[in-house]
Amino acid sequence: MAGAIINYISAGELEQFKTIMESAGNIIKNGGTVIFPTETVYGLGANALDPRAAKRIYKAKGRPSDNPLIVHVSDCQMLEEIALEIGPDARKLMAAYWPGPLTMIFYKKDLVPNETTGGLETVAVRMPSNPIALSLIEEAGLPIAAPSANISGRPSITSGKYAIEEMADRVDMILVDEDSEIGIESTVVDMTTKIPLVLRPGKISQKDILRTIAEDQEEYEDLLLALEEMRFSKESNEAEPRSPGMKYTHYSPHAYLILLTTEEIRASLTQMKKNLAQGQPLMHAMDWADLLEREVHLDKVRVLTTEKNKNDYGEHVLSLGSNGKEIGKNLFKKLRDLDEEGVELIFCEDFAKEDPSEFLAAVMNRIRKAAINIDY
Ligand code: TXA
Ligand code: MG
Repeated sequence: MAGAIINYISAGELEQFKTIMESAGNIIKNGGTVIFPTETVYGLGANALDPRAAKRIYKAKGRPSDNPLIVHVSDCQMLEEIALEIGPDARKLMAAYWPGPLTMIFYKKDLVPNETTGGLETVAVRMPSNPIALSLIEEAGLPIAAPSANISGRPSITSGKYAIEEMADRVDMILVDEDSEIGIESTVVDMTTKIPLVLRPGKISQKDILRTIAEDQEEYEDLLLALEEMRFSKESNEAEPRSPGMKYTHYSPHAYLILLTTEEIRASLTQMKKNLAQGQPLMHAMDWADLLEREVHLDKVRVLTTEKNKNDYGEHVLSLGSNGKEIGKNLFKKLRDLDEEGVELIFCEDFAKEDPSEFLAAVMNRIRKAAINIDY
């Protein structure tokens, strides 16, 4: 396939914006693929109602076709066209968080092909807030199926640079904006259960969702309790994961990523230095050494840490930022930067230890999935 058409979009140039969005919308209408920015991560979009277009998405990503796609809409009428049983809770959540980083799962109408939903009778829907994403959906005039724009299994893409590097030979057009503001994917919440159940954590937390649908504090607390019961009930302990994407390898850089405590990271670095000085294998006497298939030189090791802790480890550090927001925004980009630098082993701290925010818990969910020493 010839390379993708690449369009850099700059705010303010309205004429140019309109022309680009028209041509991008036409590609979608004609069954093609367009990578576009969203506030969470870049998406790889195609017509959600066309089975062949959906197949092109799976092919471009190298993604198993039983892993369903998120359908992006630009207004609530588009939602009504594809989803059934949109209840009062969903309406409250739409009013509070759309457009924005919340994906809701509904029973689907027949209009949505099985290719888009991976054969499920439900469909995941989200209204993104990024103006380029919204404008693309409006220009196309139809809902756009879009998973994250990375090759399956790799870290999600949050910048135009990596969209081009990884995907230019695989899609028809790439729309480049600033880096994605949030940096991790949307919260996925199942609206077909008795109480809305978060299947993939994100910026909007399970508690945010319950607080939004509850009338008052008393109802909120009742909902929290009922949710716990629901989670432990037989119904939710099904062998099949409810969100099929949860069972696949995720977010993996080429480097090995190992999640350790600060003390373990320090001890590992000290031990590696000692081994080097004594002419022993570098990973000799290390707990995690069995997980690696090859020796990694100290030069190819980096510690992923925060501004606050970056002086704790000597020279091998990369800071993700000074607060949860920055850590989330930078995570996937920095993992890709490290791959580009040729780093082979990443030690990562548990960022949620010091900052118990629900957003950092969602960020740590991505890191745990990428880590080779954690069975997720
Ligand atoms: O922020 C985002 O959500 C980004 C941007 C592009 O919007 N998209 C994204 O899509 O992350 P993707 O395909 O990488 O992740 C979609 C997740 C997967 O874990 C998938 O299994 C789950 O949502 N999902 C999609 N449809 C579902 C359904 N009907 N039932 C359960 N889970 C579903
Ligand atoms: Mg993804």
